[in-house]
Amino acid sequence: MIEFTLDGRPASAQEGELLVHAAARNGVFVPTLCHDDKLEPYGGCRMCVVGVEGSPRPLPACATRVIEGMVVSTNSNVPQLQKTLTEMLLSEHLNADPGGRPNELVDLARELGAEAPLILPDAKREPYSDRNRLMGYEPDTCILCNRCVRYTQEVMQCSALSLEGRGPEARIVPTWERSWLDTECELCGGCLSVCPTGAIYEKFLEGAGVEERQLEQTKTTCTFCGVGCQIDLNVDPETKRIVKVTSKPEYVSNEGDLCVKGRFSFNFVHHPDRLTEPLVRGEDGALHPASWEEALRAAADGLKGVIRRHSAQAIGVLASARLTNEENYLIQKLARIGLGTNSVHSCEAT
Ligand code: SF4
Ligand code: SF4
Ligand code: SF4
Ligand code: FES
Repeated sequence: MIEFTLDGRPASAQEGELLVHAAARNGVFVPTLCHDDKLEPYGGCRMCVVGVEGSPRPLPACATRVIEGMVVSTNSNVPQLQKTLTEMLLSEHLNADPGGRPNELVDLARELGAEAPLILPDAKREPYSDRNRLMGYEPDTCILCNRCVRYTQEVMQCSALSLEGRGPEARIVPTWERSWLDTECELCGGCLSVCPTGAIYEKFLEGAGVEERQLEQTKTTCTFCGVGCQIDLNVDPETKRIVKVTSKPEYVSNEGDLCVKGRFSFNFVHHPDRLTEPLVRGEDGALHPASWEEALRAAADGLKGVIRRHSAQAIGVLASARLTNEENYLIQKLARIGLGTNSVHSCEAT
């Protein structure tokens, strides 16, 4: 650990720690926009500037590492600088707050009491429409923080997105201005998840009248494969329908990253053909709705009948990599201890 001074108080940091993280651990919140913990330091938006004794100008806390004896100040002219930067960003945007999407720039402006003093005459950016049906891009909301491009390069290790143009013409586009579908993009939605302003957004929510900030989240496990990514189902409190899936960097197995299935394939939950209650075959040979108790009793009786007639070795149990570890553990326990067979297998392994 090394010692430094933060707003006049002694503070400590790990050798090489970024100032923004060290400040947070010492109870001082430094606002950021272009910074993302899982990406390399970038220092693009200047929202996180702090005063550092001996430096001729403020330094970005997200791209400056603490050194022994450093004297850092976040409370002299820093709040005014942050407010001015926020106002400048707002003045470059025709549509800083579309559709009630989570928006760090708008939240920051509210916190700092910043408003756009004017909208620059060249603020309008060329729209970009894409034929993919999952993700859209709204240039008028984009603050060009490059988080999306850095995510696709650093985490997905591909070059599906680029920052093209300069000045008022700058915008984010799939590389070579193709469709997202014609690039290396795997539609993982990671660029969407790191976008601080909602400039990249879930296209299927457009016009749905859903206030994204009001969604209720339930944490669960993705059911599509054995990686077991942790996800949040975002539920519309009025209709009780899942409207989108997100994940958080602190979730252990996947650190907030998802694949296309985990992020975008959730509509099956509400499909009318989906079974929502047990069915038991009756004497007439047809399937009839039943309570769980009746269904479990019918299954148990059927299995016991097989064991009686042919021994437990006649039974095999198929588990699935789409279940959680805990569920698979219980299935093998049911097979070995409950039914008395060691014939347990995963359907994905065949
Ligand atoms: S969806 Fe995933 S792969 Fe496609 S551009 Fe975004 S981060 Fe890259
Ligand atoms: S689309 Fe979002 S993440 Fe990408 S540069 Fe614009 S604001 Fe930043
Ligand atoms: S998000 Fe993708 S990788 Fe993760 S558990 Fe679901 S299907 Fe598997
Ligand atoms: S958050 Fe530090 S420069 Fe953007």
